[in-house]
Amino acid sequence: MPMKIVFATQNRSKVREASEILGPGFELVVPADLGITEDIPETGDTLEENSLQKAMYIYERTKEACFSDDSGLEVDALGGAPGVHTARYAGESRSADANMDKLLRELELAGPDAPRTARFHTFATLILPGPEVHVFEGIMPGRIALGRSGRGGFGYDPIFIPDEADGRTAAELSEEEKNAISHRGKALRELADFLKGCHGNTCQ
Ligand code: IMP
Repeated sequence: MPMKIVFATQNRSKVREASEILGPGFELVVPADLGITEDIPETGDTLEENSLQKAMYIYERTKEACFSDDSGLEVDALGGAPGVHTARYAGESRSADANMDKLLRELELAGPDAPRTARFHTFATLILPGPEVHVFEGIMPGRIALGRSGRGGFGYDPIFIPDEADGRTAAELSEEEKNAISHRGKALRELADFLKGCHGNTCQ
């Protein structure tokens, strides 16, 4: 029987991606299925805090095993920005195009010799009844391209060239290729491996 677990997100495309990564051993339930339809607060100063805040928000309301994830892009030449502000870098509209334009502009302002190295970083927080909190981390290192390429993925994918790909941007990779190397893929696979180890054990 698949293990039922609540994914603390209102984002349906994240749920699809997580289901692919976690595989058939898990049945993902979303807060809306349990009558929780409001935006889940994310007011922390770090990705790790936000991830814990989202999982705890759902756990406190459901008392069921749940997890959340929070990701950001850290650019070395910008002192780790946009980091926790990645989604809203260019403003509340969360526009991917505006975010990419702003990032390319900031890197141009940093000068031609500024390094373009960067990484996507994910923290995934799992809460099991108790509550028992476990944190998993995933990193996709890479660099920021000079311009956009590719139509796949989302967010900053058209301007992010992962080190573990072959020079293509993340938007030029298939979903499968990206999941195999992505920050979220790594964090969620660790979470899944942990749960598989726990299954039928004292962890639940
Ligand atoms: P979230 O915490 O997963 O919602 O990610 C915050 C923001 O980071 C998103 O709104 C995107 O702008 C960006 N982001 C996260 N993961 C990715 C990715 O895999 N590719 C491109 N952008 C991403």
